[in-house]
Amino acid sequence: PIEKRIEDLLAKMTQEEKAGQLNFVVGDLFNTGPTVRTAESDRFNEAIKKGTITGIFNIHGAEYIGKLQKIAVEESRLGIPLIIGADVIHGFKTVFPIPLGEAASWDLEAIENGARVAAIESSATGINLTFAPMVDITRDSRWGRTAEGAGEDPYLGSLIAAARVVGFQGKDLSDPRTIAACVKHFVAYGAAEAGRDYNTTDMSEYLLRDVYLPPFKAAIDAGSASLMTSFNELNGVPATANTFVLQDILRKEWGYNGLVISDWQNITEMVNHGFAKDNAHSAALALKAGTDVDMMGEAYLNFIPGLVKNGQLDQKVVDDAVRRVLWLKFKLGLFDNPTLYSSTTREKQEIRSKENLAVAFDMAKKSIVLLKNQGNVLPLTQATKRIAVIGPLANNKADMNGTWSFFGEEQHPVSFLEGIRKYAKGATVTYAQGCELYSNSTALFDEAVAAARKADVVVMAIGESAVMNGEGASRADIGLPGVQLDLVKAIHKTGKPIVALVSSGRALELTWLDQNIPAILATWSLGSEAGNAAGSVLFGEYNPSGKLPLSFPRHVGQLPLYYNYKNTGRMYDGDHMEPGSERVYKSRYRDVPNTPLYPFGYGLSYTTFNYGTPKLNKSSISGNEPLVVTVDVTNTGKVVGEEVVQLYIRDLVGSTARPVKQLKKFQKLAFAPGEKKTITFTLTKEDLAFWRQDMTFGAEPGDFKVMVGPNSRDVQELSFTLSSL
Ligand code: IFM
Repeated sequence: PIEKRIEDLLAKMTQEEKAGQLNFVVGDLFNTGPTVRTAESDRFNEAIKKGTITGIFNIHGAEYIGKLQKIAVEESRLGIPLIIGADVIHGFKTVFPIPLGEAASWDLEAIENGARVAAIESSATGINLTFAPMVDITRDSRWGRTAEGAGEDPYLGSLIAAARVVGFQGKDLSDPRTIAACVKHFVAYGAAEAGRDYNTTDMSEYLLRDVYLPPFKAAIDAGSASLMTSFNELNGVPATANTFVLQDILRKEWGYNGLVISDWQNITEMVNHGFAKDNAHSAALALKAGTDVDMMGEAYLNFIPGLVKNGQLDQKVVDDAVRRVLWLKFKLGLFDNPTLYSSTTREKQEIRSKENLAVAFDMAKKSIVLLKNQGNVLPLTQATKRIAVIGPLANNKADMNGTWSFFGEEQHPVSFLEGIRKYAKGATVTYAQGCELYSNSTALFDEAVAAARKADVVVMAIGESAVMNGEGASRADIGLPGVQLDLVKAIHKTGKPIVALVSSGRALELTWLDQNIPAILATWSLGSEAGNAAGSVLFGEYNPSGKLPLSFPRHVGQLPLYYNYKNTGRMYDGDHMEPGSERVYKSRYRDVPNTPLYPFGYGLSYTTFNYGTPKLNKSSISGNEPLVVTVDVTNTGKVVGEEVVQLYIRDLVGSTARPVKQLKKFQKLAFAPGEKKTITFTLTKEDLAFWRQDMTFGAEPGDFKVMVGPNSRDVQELSFTLSSL
């Protein structure tokens, strides 16, 4: 049994070798420049032989990794194989939409398939663990890492977290076509103050448990083999040494026995936090709290032997961490076959295969959200003879890969221009860049305006570059960067109909566009198949079906902004801003409404859906009785379309005040023209549960509202009572 093999190994290990098993180092990918994608180096060979590293991350290549694994098992004293980690965040060489974009599909099967393809491709090159899924809830789009998560909702986020874990890991960790997941960043990193990356987080235990923890719990219940701690401090204690979250919740309450990995140097950064006096102190604090592996800090490597020797660290704490590392290496099948994941044949056959690109195309189409389509400008028809494609993201391949795409090659993605040319069969397509992504120069405006004048319709590809979101890419201004909005205004003056493809890794401020541009599509960073997906949607081959996984604000000053807010004692929900005495002493701004520009769950289609009046099987339930909610939805338009039917609840009175709405169920279904379906949702008291004032989890009897609709704003509501538990 594995346990026996682990104990046998432990018994043979020196303190230095134990510390080595807890030391995780980065490969050369970060240092090789943006275009160099092979990163082979001999610089790890000696460390591997000495057993001072447990693994390397962000390297790839079957041959290269195969060699390193052989050195580990054949030339190190104990023959322990390596963990090869990587940020395989949204695909490998077949690049999928950024996770926020995938979340907009509300399609769990497609998301799972995407993670599976990423696992298949990356595992062929020797990678056996991915630093994903990132499941941080994000309510403030200034935070750059919004791009990597699933948006603002804990329920949707939990389902997506589980789908991704299952996609990466499959059923058997030792299957060479699967990789270990590492759910991150534990925890509350998404609530970094003011949306500034790495910033402090301070929140009540209720908020932590109701909103920020559920996606982690879901990922762990789905079997995530590892977990990464976050950079932030939480209520004064850095997450990486936070015994409350790492011991009390993760290990004891949830029974998690997988591996806990730090983020990059966040152990030694505890000195900067003002929480540890030096790196040795950091190492002791983090290890005791339950962070097993030190990423890039070298504090464990340098200080564990001394800390044990002078009695500052229990041997058992060190041994338990090493046990978990070895357990994962056994589970991955590496002890039995160290080159299990390195297959030059699979590398050739499976990477960017036709099948994988087809999965990415499917995902990219499903991720697009139609935000506006005034006068049915879209879909474009073959009658459109002259199309001007304008904007800094139009003839752009590299940025389609999006943030955290180390492995995606910048020449690979299909650009929007290419995709439009392919789909616009009989039309003349002209192109003008219009402006750079960030610069303030308007030198290219005239050429773009001239191109627009000669066109029947203008498609503008605007928004953020890949590096404007992701880690360390917070923004205080979340409008279109540089002079892009001025470019849109200049083109708008021509009077030509404009379709805006807006790419971003966050909810952008699109107020002017919404007021002036007839058609707007949220296109995130769509990955390898970006242009094909956009072409398919623009020309109506695929009817857009995405729904926003986060609220789009009218103004950056509204942030943090989320649909499941608390009512306060003085909520004002109207959109009117005229000063009126009755509105002054309300929870509102004088200059901007409280409501979002586009609400959570929002997205249009080329067809229309009619919602009948929802019905309940009873108006009162008790104990374990289910509440059955039905609603008839009809496709009242002329084309096939998919709709995400959403169900929200509100608990009217709670021992801790409840949010005005909480998503509890949804179904994504396809409808033929004219087709009517009766959608049935079943709610039980588990769906009504929350962290009560006494810090127990469960429902409370009382009155509830249940709301059904196409988004979080346009709902029809009914009432019911939970009479007893
Ligand atoms: O996985 C990432 C993490 O999300 C942020 N810091 C670096 C890690 C490894 O690249």
